[in-house]
Amino acid sequence: MKAALRHILKLKKEYSHLPFFDFLRDETLSSRQRLEFYPCMSPFIMSFGDLNRYVMRQEPTSDPYQVMVNEHSYEDDHHWLWYLEDFIKLGFDRKKISPTEYLQFFYSDRTVVNRLLSDKLAHLIYSSSGIVRLAIIEAIEETGNVLFELIRKLAEEIEEEMGIELRYCGEFHFSKESGHAMTNDHTIIANIEMDEQTTAEAIEKVNLVFAWFTEWTEELLAYAKQNLNHSYETVSQKISMSSVA
Ligand SMILES: [Fe+2]
Ligand SMILES: [Fe+2]
Repeated sequence: MKAALRHILKLKKEYSHLPFFDFLRDETLSSRQRLEFYPCMSPFIMSFGDLNRYVMRQEPTSDPYQVMVNEHSYEDDHHWLWYLEDFIKLGFDRKKISPTEYLQFFYSDRTVVNRLLSDKLAHLIYSSSGIVRLAIIEAIEETGNVLFELIRKLAEEIEEEMGIELRYCGEFHFSKESGHAMTNDHTIIANIEMDEQTTAEAIEKVNLVFAWFTEWTEELLAYAKQNLNHSYETVSQKISMSSVA
């Protein structure tokens, strides 16, 4: 699978330079402000457990690659619990809205890319053999690695300033993410033999994974910017109103 992995690493490098990741590196904003995108990814993060449990995992299987996919799925199927934990710790739970209003948000145009990402990935995974699924997982894991590496730093700063441990954003989650399919190192995956036709299929599917995650980052960035502008406007409105008074 060496050729497919090389391709994934090339795409990962390009992916890490997307504007959303520059936003996460922007030190003119506080760590907390840079995490303003967090609620927007809820539809995808919450479905990711199902994607692992019910789409990637296929039991029983006699395919040795699907066995690896299955093992990986057990590691990744419960991380949404830590996502919810940080959701509360970051203060997103303070805003009291009704369940109906939350459903409206969850199914709004502001989160549509997040919702459809899991559908698209499910379609891709269902139509792939075990070995191609491994390449797809590698691509997903590498996109995750770019995000988690950056938010881990933000979590560290928040932990220092506020004394709260962010398990999803921080080191706790990062240390559980091998960045690869299964808890394997790269060598085991790289040494899997892949014929030319399967490599071509894997590369085509990996391209789709990166294209869809690119759109995903665009939605997260738009959401964060809109929210930051909104809170900025609210603050400046209050300031101008109080100066009038
Ligand atoms: Fe995870
Ligand atoms: Fe993962």
